[in-house]
Order: sequence, then structure tokens, then C-alpha cells
Amino acid sequence: MKKGKTPSKSERFSDLIKKTIINFYIFIGGKGMKKVYTGKTKDVFELDNGNFELLFKDDCTGKDGVFDPGENSIGLTIEGIGRENLKTSVHYFELLKEAGIKTHYVSADIEKSTMEVLPAKVFGKGVEVICRYRAVGSFIRRYGEYIENGAKLDAYVEVTLKDDERCDPLVTSEGLEALGIMTQEQFDQMKERTRKITAVVAKDLEEKGLELYDIKFEFGFYNDEVILIDEIASGNMRVYKDGEIVDPMDLTKMILA
Ligand SMILES: Nc1ncnc2c1ncn2[C@@H]1O[C@H](COP(=O)(O)OP(=O)(O)OP(=O)(O)O)[C@@H](O)[C@H]1O
Ligand SMILES: [Mg+2]
Repeated sequence: MKKGKTPSKSERFSDLIKKTIINFYIFIGGKGMKKVYTGKTKDVFELDNGNFELLFKDDCTGKDGVFDPGENSIGLTIEGIGRENLKTSVHYFELLKEAGIKTHYVSADIEKSTMEVLPAKVFGKGVEVICRYRAVGSFIRRYGEYIENGAKLDAYVEVTLKDDERCDPLVTSEGLEALGIMTQEQFDQMKERTRKITAVVAKDLEEKGLELYDIKFEFGFYNDEVILIDEIASGNMRVYKDGEIVDPMDLTKMILA
């Protein structure tokens, strides 16, 4: 149904049918499932087997109706984007599995836009790791006095705390230890895994004629191990083609082609 037009009787009827089917599905599918977290772009449910289920929604972060994966608030809804992000994530989690790198990924149901994952504990209120092959974005905003935009970096790793109010501040390994968020040993494991995972993603992109400049991941703790959690979607990486940045929506299409 298009906006700004008074719906016809048959449109109202088909909308009612759609809503009834969705509600029925939620009723059936929701049995034995407890919602444990409502995120900005995903909801988290606890399954009967103890695992978590991530529901990829069509809500996107952005500002004033413009999609911006770097933003911290919900700006708009794009139909089908949740499922596309899930497909991209599955593509990379499967590649990581083939490469022998353990992650939280168990399985996915593309139709339902859901992914079953291992229930990890997040560090503090969540930490994010960035791996940089080229200096762009916030790296240039911070260190532009010392480095040219787009200059090569050697898989430079940095960590930020998930804290919208404080604009996701950068934190050192000593800071993480002093704050009781993570031990130095866990940090080292996370850094090593970040570099391995980034190499897998970069290789896949290279085969598609694309160059990875930087990428952001989330890690959690499960069974005494630091593992990759959450998603690996186009909005979490900066990718260039022939020196031009590729828009995340176009990037998803290229990755899944
Ligand atoms: N395997 C997992 N175990 C536990 N929690 C997980 C796992 N995978 C993802 N999560 C959590 O699920 C949530 C998904 O929500 P969502 O991606 O919408 O992000 P958010 O928390 O709202 O914030 P942001 O957009 O800044 O990432 C995140 O809080 C993430 O930490
Ligand atoms: Mg997230």
C-alpha cells in the first residue's frame, strides 16, 4: 500500500490478511522463545536449546531519513535490508567456518530473517573492534596531522566501547583491563582473531574486484574463548572499487552476486 493515498477496500482487506498472518506467525514462532534484547537493527531471543536467535529487522541507523551505518540512532526503514544483511553475514560466517575460525554462527533461516547463534557474554556493555588496511574515516579525523587520507596500514587494530551516550570511545588494552572489561590475554586472542577474520573477508572482496579499507566487528565470550558475534554486513565495512567508495546497498549486491 502506497503512502499518501486513501486505501481501497481490497487494499484494506489484503493488509488485514497480512497482519493476521504475521500475528499468527509470531504467536506460533514465539512459543517457548523469550525476547532478551531489543537492538536497533536486531532483536535477540532465547531458544529452548539455550542458544540465541537474532532477528534481522528492516530498521537502519541513519539521520534525517538518510541511511548511515555509522550513526547510532534509527533513522529509517528499508524493506528487505534485514534479510540482505543476514545473507551477507551467512556468506561470511560460512567462509570463516571453512577457514577453521570459530564464531557464534550456528545456522540461519533466510525466509524468517533469523540466525541461530551461540549465546555469548558480551564484554562490559559490548566492545567493537576495528581493523584497518587503509587510513580513512575516524582514523583521519584523529590522526590526519600524521598520515595521508587513504594511506596503507598494516591490519591496524583498535577497540571502542559500545556507549552511544559517549559516542563509542576508543579504549586501550590497559584501559579494558583497568575497567574490568577484559584481560590482556583475552585482548590478545581478540586481536589475533580480528586479523585472521579480516584477511578472509578482504580476500573474498578482492576476488570480486573490491578493496577492503576497514571493518568493524563485535566479540563476545563463550566457553572460555573469545569469539566473533553479531553480524558481518556491508554497513560494518568500508570498501572501495577503483579508488571510489562503494555504497553499502550496492556492496551487498556485489557480495551476494
Ligand atoms: N552470539 C551472541 N550472544 C550474545 N549477544 C549477541 C550475540 N550476537 C549478537 N549479540 C548482541 O545482539 C545485539 C544485536 O543488536 P543490534 O545489532 O541491533 O545492536 P545494538 O546493540 O542496538 O547497537 P549497535 O547498533 O550500536 O550495534 C547486540 O547488542 C549484540 O551485542
Ligand atoms: Mg549491532
